[in-house]
Amino acid sequence: MQEAKERVIQNGIPTGAYLIKKGKTKDVYHLPYDNIFLKFKDNITVGDDGIEDPGGNKAGGTKQNLGRQSLELTKYYFNLISQKLNIPTHMIGVDISENTMEVAPIRTFGNGLEWICRAKAEGSYLKRNKDVKKGTPLNYLVEVSLKDDYHGDPIFDKKAFVCGGKHVWQGKEIDLGDGVISSQQYDLCYAYTNLITRLIAEDFKRKDLDFIDIKYEFGMIGNMVVLIDEISAGSMRVFDKNGVKLEKEDIYEAVINGKKFGNTKNLDSGMSL
Ligand SMILES: Nc1ncnc2c1ncn2[C@@H]1O[C@H](COP(=O)(O)OP(=O)(O)OP(=O)(O)O)[C@@H](O)[C@H]1O
Ligand SMILES: [Mg+2]
Repeated sequence: MQEAKERVIQNGIPTGAYLIKKGKTKDVYHLPYDNIFLKFKDNITVGDDGIEDPGGNKAGGTKQNLGRQSLELTKYYFNLISQKLNIPTHMIGVDISENTMEVAPIRTFGNGLEWICRAKAEGSYLKRNKDVKKGTPLNYLVEVSLKDDYHGDPIFDKKAFVCGGKHVWQGKEIDLGDGVISSQQYDLCYAYTNLITRLIAEDFKRKDLDFIDIKYEFGMIGNMVVLIDEISAGSMRVFDKNGVKLEKEDIYEAVINGKKFGNTKNLDSGMSL
């Protein structure tokens, strides 16, 4: 990894950068000196039912300024996390006017893991646990899923991810090979997930808002576990004190501009994180 150098920029993308992935919410470029360049887009993710969903596996429509807002929130949270918790992130530089972020290249755990943390029961947790009532406190429960859109992001326990082997998720067999993460790396990502979520939840509590759940990704730089990807309104679910779900732009307004929420009318979230 090298620090950013002077370079010619066209349409926000440095010369010599080449596209390696067109993601649902970001385009990913490889820079000539090996760093990675993320261009945040205005896409929203939806579930199979087409309803907006932070854990959704499809892009479904756009929202004006969502890319810039997601980038601003990511910058805010990554700075907060590295300053308050001393947890390293992949962020190197941000250009808000171009919706871009330069990041360090990382190694993923297998094809990638998602770390979900739940303060209260919502979304896919309720679908999988039919006896649990909506809103039941879950005390920052951590669930870990494999980034595998085709199999619906299967959730397994530590032993499965560390030891590997074949495991069944919703009737389909998934082969985790020799395992995708070490026991120590798993414990560290788990602890980071818990710490970061408590920090973010406290931030919302001070704003009189009710944090519900969130997801993160981690990767490796050398031997170091780092927080990667993004933390934006699309990563989380937040309700106001009346139990009304905040829209993405409302989360942005609350966190970045300190706007107050709490007098809106009730809407069903329909999300399945
Ligand atoms: N530092 C990094 N180095 C390499 N890849 C990264 C880094 N940070 C994030 N990524 C990957 O870049 C992609 C970002 O694009 P986006 O989030 O839009 O993808 P996606 O369509 O949501 O797919 P995914 O399900 O993989 O997240 C993700 O696959 C993410 O894991
Ligand atoms: Mg993504």
